[in-house]
Amino acid sequence: MSKLIAIVGAQWGDEGKGKIVDVFGENADLFVRYAGGANAGHTLYVAGEKIVLHNLPSGIVRRDAKNVVGPYVACDLEVVQHELALAARFRSSVDFDPRAPVVLPIHKAIDRGRERALGAAAVGTTNRGIGPCYEDFAARRGITLSDVADGRVGDKLRAGGYYAERVAVCAHLGETPMTLDETVAWAEPFAYLLQPHLDDVAMLVTCYARDPKSTIVFEGAQGMMLDVIAGNRPYCTSSLTGIAAIQASFGLTPDRVIGVTKAYATRVGGGPFPSELEGPVGDELRQRGLEYGATTGRPRRVGWLDLPALAFACRMGSVTELVINKLDVLSGYPEFQLATGYLLNGKRVSPNDTLTTPLLNGAEAKYHVFCGWHEEISTCRVREQLPEAARAYLAYIQHVLGLPVTGIGVGPNRDDIIWDG
Ligand code: IMP
Repeated sequence: MSKLIAIVGAQWGDEGKGKIVDVFGENADLFVRYAGGANAGHTLYVAGEKIVLHNLPSGIVRRDAKNVVGPYVACDLEVVQHELALAARFRSSVDFDPRAPVVLPIHKAIDRGRERALGAAAVGTTNRGIGPCYEDFAARRGITLSDVADGRVGDKLRAGGYYAERVAVCAHLGETPMTLDETVAWAEPFAYLLQPHLDDVAMLVTCYARDPKSTIVFEGAQGMMLDVIAGNRPYCTSSLTGIAAIQASFGLTPDRVIGVTKAYATRVGGGPFPSELEGPVGDELRQRGLEYGATTGRPRRVGWLDLPALAFACRMGSVTELVINKLDVLSGYPEFQLATGYLLNGKRVSPNDTLTTPLLNGAEAKYHVFCGWHEEISTCRVREQLPEAARAYLAYIQHVLGLPVTGIGVGPNRDDIIWDG
């Protein structure tokens, strides 16, 4: 049996998925990026060098590794160009599905303009044009990688007045986008870049999946709480973030769905965050965890781990096991907290309730206080080496979620992990 492993975010993104993809990378035959775009930022440390990837799978920084980008990944061509050069450095290969949507400069203008128009109610997007790009994708228009490679951009932009309509949206938002001709000229140089990399990726993934000896790692972006359906609309991204995207793109259902969380919680952008810590307590956690966006550099909102949200994300994401990253960040707290439930209008929220935005907006988090530990844990490599208080915390989470915790991140480096998987 081939092994199909999905790495899925179990919070609001930024859980450290890249590191876990990297751990599985040792035995992977194929790395697949299946959703999202350059809104993602996957940080890796390779031989001491910090590398942040946005659009291509984390496998590109593995020597000779085979990587593919699926038909549901929003491709930012400047970022793709940069990351293909990186892949060449590592002699790794990258193939793209020709159907993948391209983020156009006008998508970024619309994203920017919409956020400005929303004012205080802004989503807090990454300004990478992701929403408007997926909007066109769902509307069965927009530019694909093969349109760029085959020089069809102008014709596609003219069809049905598509580009003119988008320009009108920009005018309404007070944005001055590239003209149609400028967009065609912008896309042109990327044709040569893309041509050698376009292939029938879905077929390729199927072939690997049918090979009983192969292991495929599917790399997610963002997290289930930012999913366009399960997440807190409108404070979410515009794509599916879980295995539904893998099923739709490749007709495959992973055997293992590894939900990745941090030992505490973070969120970037607007939207409800019931366990958020503000003021000096929040500042301290942000500093300890160095919680600044890998894509935008924005300080992340921080809070204690939110167990109801994590349970919901695991349920919606069909998660089969959990990795808890950055446990070392909690070292040194005399005590810390875990949100174990919510009250809404004085009533306890059931663990089976759907965590909608109105529910989370009104939710008051109830906490369980845990004893901390002061020991440095980044050299621990088996669970038994962890302080008892840390083990008690993990056991509690494991018990409530009913899922095995198979990995525990104890530091930023590739090897700083306790692995039971
Ligand atoms: P967009 O995906 O840029 O449209 O942003 C929509 C929301 O998702 C905003 O709150 C972003 O901060 C958030 N978001 C998008 N990508 C990521 C990510 O990779 N990590 C964390 N938050 C993200």
